[in-house]
Amino acid sequence: MRSGVAVRVLGALEVGSSTQASVLPPTLRTVLAALVVDAGHVVPASVLAERVWDEAGIRPATSTLHSSVSRLRRLLEPGAGPWQVLVTRAPGYRLALAPEALDAARFEQLLRRALAAADTDPGGARADVADALALWRGPAYADVEAGFARQEARRLENLRLEGLELAARLDLVLGRHREVVPDLEELVLAHPLREELRAALVLALYRCGRQADALQAFEDGRRLLADELGIDPGPQLRRLHEAVLRQDPALEAPVVPAADPPSPPSSSPLSSPGAGDDGDVPARTPVRTSTSALPLATTELLGRAEDLQRLLELLERERLVTLTGTGGVGKTRLAAAAAEAAAERFEGGTVLVPLATLDDARAVLPAVVRALGLPDEAGAGALDAVAAHVADSRTLLVLDNLEHLLDAAADVAALVRRCPRLVVLVTSRAPLRVSGEVEHRVEPLGLPATGEDVLGSPAVQLFTERARAVAPGFAVSARNAAVVADICRALGGIPLALELAAPRIRVLDPAELLRRLDHALTSGPRDLPARQRTMRATLDWSYGLLDAPTRRLYRRLSVFTGGWTLPVLEDVEGPGVLEQLEALVEMSLVTVTFSRGRPRYAMLVPTQQHARRLLEEDELAEVSRAHAEAHLRLAERAAPHYRGEGQVEWLERVELEHANLLAAFEWAMGAGEYATAARLTWATWLFWWLRGHVLVGRRCARAAVDATADSPLEGPAALVPVRARIALAAMAFAQGDFTAADEGWARACADAERAVGVDPVERDEARANCTAGAGICAQVTGDLAAAADAHRRAIALARTLPEDTYGPWIVRLNLVWLGTVHWRAGEAGPARRQAEEGLALARRDGDRLATFLALYNLAQAEAGPAPARALRHLQEGIELSEQMGDLANLAYFLEALVVLRAAGGRAGDDGDDGDHGDHGDHGDEGDDAAALVRLLGAASAARETVGFEVHNYYLRDSVGRAEAEARLRAQLGEQRYARELAAGRRAPVAESVRTAVRVRPVTVPPTAPSPAS
Ligand SMILES: Nc1ncnc2c1ncn2[C@@H]1O[C@H](COP(=O)(O)OP(=O)(O)OP(=O)(O)O)[C@@H](O)[C@H]1O
Ligand SMILES: [Mg+2]
Repeated sequence: MRSGVAVRVLGALEVGSSTQASVLPPTLRTVLAALVVDAGHVVPASVLAERVWDEAGIRPATSTLHSSVSRLRRLLEPGAGPWQVLVTRAPGYRLALAPEALDAARFEQLLRRALAAADTDPGGARADVADALALWRGPAYADVEAGFARQEARRLENLRLEGLELAARLDLVLGRHREVVPDLEELVLAHPLREELRAALVLALYRCGRQADALQAFEDGRRLLADELGIDPGPQLRRLHEAVLRQDPALEAPVVPAADPPSPPSSSPLSSPGAGDDGDVPARTPVRTSTSALPLATTELLGRAEDLQRLLELLERERLVTLTGTGGVGKTRLAAAAAEAAAERFEGGTVLVPLATLDDARAVLPAVVRALGLPDEAGAGALDAVAAHVADSRTLLVLDNLEHLLDAAADVAALVRRCPRLVVLVTSRAPLRVSGEVEHRVEPLGLPATGEDVLGSPAVQLFTERARAVAPGFAVSARNAAVVADICRALGGIPLALELAAPRIRVLDPAELLRRLDHALTSGPRDLPARQRTMRATLDWSYGLLDAPTRRLYRRLSVFTGGWTLPVLEDVEGPGVLEQLEALVEMSLVTVTFSRGRPRYAMLVPTQQHARRLLEEDELAEVSRAHAEAHLRLAERAAPHYRGEGQVEWLERVELEHANLLAAFEWAMGAGEYATAARLTWATWLFWWLRGHVLVGRRCARAAVDATADSPLEGPAALVPVRARIALAAMAFAQGDFTAADEGWARACADAERAVGVDPVERDEARANCTAGAGICAQVTGDLAAAADAHRRAIALARTLPEDTYGPWIVRLNLVWLGTVHWRAGEAGPARRQAEEGLALARRDGDRLATFLALYNLAQAEAGPAPARALRHLQEGIELSEQMGDLANLAYFLEALVVLRAAGGRAGDDGDDGDHGDHGDHGDEGDDAAALVRLLGAASAARETVGFEVHNYYLRDSVGRAEAEARLRAQLGEQRYARELAAGRRAPVAESVRTAVRVRPVTVPPTAPSPAS
């Protein structure tokens, strides 16, 4: 009979129960170690003394030895003798620890069993090796320096490496070559001379279709052996090398039945190191339960106050509550916290049943029975036993990790029905879907919004805490806050991922860590238990529970960036994927959000990376192509809408797909599908323009133009590169690079004219575009005659084009631009008439872009004679800019509004200010001025967000702007001015727009309008 004590040596030496470990003083540590290395055998007192003291050159009195032994005894066994753990046996002492109470013994036992079963039951053997390796917390006997301990540590380390080799071998047998490559690469780096590891790497690479890498891995090893030891690789490695060279079919991966789930990571803090101490050596399907053993959390629960509150309410009134959410998101942790907080309300106790290690749904009820400390029962007997046990005391049962045992859902439901005083809290990555179940989704920890207080985010707090545990000097500062925020975002705010990544701060600075983050997914620190070692293991667990079609979809979804909608997915994958998609949502591998009432699906970053790693190369190529083609279709369908009624809706839709469009573009460039890249560019340029994405737009357009520069100007596709060139010129213009823009449009025009065998309408559409471009370029360089000529030609050409082309759009824009030419020439009358004509056409077609262009010009033309009307034009333009999400345009309009208002345009004298009739009362002038300064701040923030002026054809009134600023400064004083300006810069766009549209006209006498800058 043994007490519940456990000794752990695979890491620093620890003595303790499952929840507590004590650290011993050095001498006791060494005495204990000297007994542990021979656990189960008698260690003569003389040998013991020699091991402990001789090395230090001291020979202690016998009494010293005795007193150490008796102190140790009291530590190992509470109370007084007779001692059962540290027993006196002549001529010395014997440590009587069962294998399960000594991690090294358990490790060897599991490893032996795995070796024995490797051929007959590779899956089970792999699980055993994983369990065995999971016992390691660090180098064995890490804090015992004596020679005997070092020797034993070396022996154990050797066994650990054998375990790793066995694991690699089994992984290959199980067809997991793709998954093991990163681990093996790291192992081979760490142990370059272990030939078996290298052989496993060579084979894994080969099976991934990476023959060249496989050969290189062999070659690296061969050279190393020659250099270090002057020997050749062993026969096994050599034979493998030859087989790789001749592509021996015997090297092919074995066919593994799809239903074989990977070994459970059981990433639950319930089974923190040594949690199995109270159990049996696990049978292959062990049932390890701990009655009322709530895990003792050693860290603070972060960011879960609301969840906890809600959960406590649910536990108060519901009977079956399921915490769902992706692996590592913190379900178990939350369940444990809730159980602890609710403990008082359950006089029958809170009982925790960890289920991760079970692999049969029928074993759930018996596990509950055992957890309650009742005699073994199954089936109806189990129900009866539990019912009788909890009949008169409210009891909380926590079933932890049920997702792989969902067949037990009916049993759980029956249990709840049968036992009215029982409340069941389940953690599971997927809901049970039984009646009476209430699901509470556990979401990742809150991430910092951009520009927000980074430290306020629980994800950042968790990351920081874990980082500080290994690097106490680490702190989030102004210097690294943005990078830390990015790290947390890239890890999806998943606590486990954060915990895995954070300790690397010890060796990497945050920026470097961000670059190497996928390590958090593939290779956790080896001294952590396997169950929490990698994000990958965690996700493998979910993946293993999916059926084959769902797995296929899971892998393929990894080509999406930034989510997807069902219609787009069906365009990529064909119809009929909804069922699998739903299964992935159920398993919390795919998230759903609603935007404008439509569901949008996405994967968290670590999940996406995991799925991507599982994609075979041909599958990746095939699905990437389908993804690109679907997004090209989407982009081309969206393009005409940017010019008309559907603008707002389509701009928003494409904004959500922008990352996917760019991914499609990248794929097309990488795959040499340049026409696809060029067509994407053409379809998207106006979106880039209106949304201020001109930097990325120009980069894409540049790449597409360069890639298609040599394509023949012949045949129906001849205009594809020409159009990419038009898009590139537009992006250059938006960036204020007028020379490049002018040359680009001219070259595109010439190409369009030279092209042979193209549709004449398409040719003229391209020419009209280029001609319009030439017009605005001439404007900004001051050649007004050339500008007017170009706009007139563009209008004439565009008028010949059908309605469904760029034709009508070019007509209305060029009418407005012709007006700008007049305005630049000081001809207010014609300027206004052209703008009005363009405005009428723009309104007819619902084109907000042409509308606000016209409004800008009209506002300028009317600022003198009809300032109230001018103000309304600007306010309408501001609202339209907001609808379109066009921040560059918003900046122009806000500034124009401030200029107009600060210049003191009179209201009421243009006889058209009915909507603003209350101009007798305009509040405090200081407040008005402050509001205007805030708008100036908002304008410069908007302009900086975009980074470019974009609408360079507007004629800005910079003199008026400077005057307005001077006047406002004088009115408010420097300090207040600066304060308001800063407030305006920070204000959300919607708020600035609200301020702007509330600005009322004033009645002070006007100053002379300044028509041009
Ligand atoms: N709110 C939190 N504050 C601090 N640490 C947390 C928090 N949530 C989770 N953790 C830590 O993150 C790790 C993963 O959490 P947990 O094991 O509860 O995830 P899980 O959702 O149960 O995962 P699985 O699906 O694999 O069972 C644990 O080490 C846990 O202690
Ligand atoms: Mg869990």
